[in-house]
Order: sequence, then C-alpha cells, then structure tokens
Amino acid sequence: MSVSRRSFVGGFAAALGYLGVGNEIDLFAQGRTQGAGGAARAGAATNDYDSFAHLSSNENCWGPPDSVMKAMNNAWKYSNRYGYPDGGIVQDIAKHHGVKPENILLTAGSGEVLDVVGTAFLPAGKKVLGVEPTYSTVYQHATSIKSTAIKLPLGKDYRQDIPAMIKAANANAAQLGFVYLCNPNNPTGQIVTATEVKQLLDGIPAGMPVLIDEAYHHFVDNAEYATSVPYVLEGRPVIIARTFSKIAALAGMRLGYAIASKEMIDKMRPYSMGSINALVKHGGVAALKDTASQANVKKMVLDLRKKTTSELNAYGYETIPSETNFFMVHIGREIQPVIQEFLAKKVQVGRPFPPMTTHMRVSIGTADEMAQLMTAFKEIFPQKSRNTAAGV
Ligand SMILES: Cc1ncc(COP(=O)(O)O)c(C=O)c1O
Repeated sequence: MSVSRRSFVGGFAAALGYLGVGNEIDLFAQGRTQGAGGAARAGAATNDYDSFAHLSSNENCWGPPDSVMKAMNNAWKYSNRYGYPDGGIVQDIAKHHGVKPENILLTAGSGEVLDVVGTAFLPAGKKVLGVEPTYSTVYQHATSIKSTAIKLPLGKDYRQDIPAMIKAANANAAQLGFVYLCNPNNPTGQIVTATEVKQLLDGIPAGMPVLIDEAYHHFVDNAEYATSVPYVLEGRPVIIARTFSKIAALAGMRLGYAIASKEMIDKMRPYSMGSINALVKHGGVAALKDTASQANVKKMVLDLRKKTTSELNAYGYETIPSETNFFMVHIGREIQPVIQEFLAKKVQVGRPFPPMTTHMRVSIGTADEMAQLMTAFKEIFPQKSRNTAAGV
C-alpha cells in the first residue's frame, strides 16, 4: 500500500472506529490521524504542528486520495516548464460544468477569485454588499484597494436575509460594484436555498454582478440547495467561485477557479496571477474524476459532524445546523480567550467571527481530532442541563 493510500485509508478507518463501525479496520488506524498540512495558523508553532488537532481552517483532514497523489507524482517531470502541459485542467473543469473553457478562470485557490473579482468590479470607490459574518476575505480585499463593504446582519436562525439584501442592493445601486453571497455561508454553515438565490438575482438591479462563493458546495445534503452555475449559462451576471481546497483536500497546493460569462472572465483575467503549479493542475484533473473518494469524504464529514454536535448538545451546548465541514457551537463566553485555552490543550479552533463572538467555529477533523476536541471542551466548559441546548 502506498504512503498516500495508507494515509487516506488510515483517516477513514479512524473515522469509522470513532463511529463504532467495526474493529477489522483498526489495522489501518495507525495511518496518519492528524491534519494534512496547510499553513500554520492560530498560534500553533510550526515545529509542533503535527501534535495539534487542526480544527480551525475547514481543511480536509484526510488528505488527497491515491488517484490525485499519483497524478501529481506523474507531473513532476513538467516542473521545469512554465504553464504546460497542464493535463487539460481548464477543458475538464468546463466539461464538468457544461460550460466552455472561455467561461473558466483558473486561480491559485478560490481566494484569488475573491481578490480578482474585487479588483475588477470595485473601481472608483464602488462597494461590495454582503452579510456579516461571512468569509471576510472579500471585505478585507475591498479595504486593501480603498473600497468598502456594506455589511448586513444575518437574519433569523443565522441565515442570510435575502429580502434585506435585495432592499440594500436597490437602495445603494449607484454605489455598488457587486454583491457577495457565500453559499453555504462560512462561518455559520447555513445554505441559501435555490429559491432564495433566484429571488435575489431577480430582485437586485439588472446587470448587478453577484459573486457566489461555493467553496463548501460538495458537503451540502439538502434538497433545497442547488449550485448557481446554471445562471452563468442563462447569461446572468453571476460569478461562481469554486475550490479544490475542501472536498479535494488540496488546500496547500492552491487551486480554484471562477465560472462566469466570457465578458466577465475577460474583465477579471488581467488581475489574476496566472501562476498555477504544474503538479496541482494534474491533481485537479484526477480529483474531478474521483467522485468515489469525494463521496467517502462527504460521508465521513457528515457522520462525524452529527456525532460531535450530538455530543455537544447532550452536554448542554447549542450548535447551529450546518451543511458544511464545520459547525458553530454557542459557548456563551467571548471566544478569544477560549481559543487560547483550546490551544493550551493542543486543539486549534476557529478564529473570532464578529459579531458572533460567543460562538466557536469547529472544523470537522479526523475521529481522533474530534475526540480530542470533546475532551478539551469538557475540561474547559461545565456541563449544562440538556434543556438549555434549545433549538438544535
Ligand atoms: C467560503 C470560502 N471561500 C473561499 C475560501 C478560500 O479558499 P482557497 O483559497 O483555499 O480556495 C475559503 C477558505 O476557507 C472559504 O471558507
């Protein structure tokens, strides 16, 4: 068994063990049970990185499957070349979505899409409209280019308030460069339903660009959700951002893309670096094909999320229902010092997401990592009576 295969199966086996699914797979559980790498964050010293439970950055803890590792290993021979051969990645992404290659902009992670859209669509002081909290990179980039954001509060049940967005988009139409919709939303994990997306697109001023960030698309298990890619085919001014960092476990390799009309892509392209490494282009092609591995990852995430949130609820803490590889738990205390308390117990949890500073965002990690989280949680927080964990 190759190293990559062993690691992947190891994580899978550990997950099944935690879920109580058979001992026969314990044999493989000696494989890697820690996170799969990525930038050191939230105060974990890099030389001690592997001893932490990495539950802060919504990564895929199991790492890329064998098919992807093999494709990347075979691409080393092109590492001395600039942009080619590229494995046909743009064509394959286009085919995957039923669009043309001219509708795709390949980027170093979808974070680059968010920046490029900001630069291209926020000229001369135009603003971005979205909710708070959401994935704030879009707002940070707006600030860096001397633009600003109009941020609306989340609505009931921590959902994005679409009627309020429509109202604000119309009221501020002249000042707006684009609308940002993160679906499902990070950090709350909630979806905007397909009906609501249509309502938004129909309700905002005609021609207003909408950036729809579908980083967590692959984890959604809700019939009311749908990708917004068909709106590109319909000719709406919609840009979809996708990433290989989450379900495909390639966060450290940096691969993402935008899907939009040729006109919008042409407007964005001059601001993109156009520098994607040879290895990940080939890995991305393999990842698109390996739907079986992605289905496994989704199942493990959903099972571990259910198990962990049930344990937290039983311990008396409310969690926000999530459609992603992370969830929020209401801790009822300011999060900043709590992050440090978890770090002292070798568990990295999510950063603060103002104004929800008494919630903690937890990424789904391996079964071992989730067990480590629960142990730390019970040491840090007292048990509360069950009926205080309402609304879950
Ligand atoms: C909603 C959302 N969009 C985009 C990104 C950027 O990810 P990447 O640049 O790795 O594709 C993230 C990363 O966590 C995210 O949560």
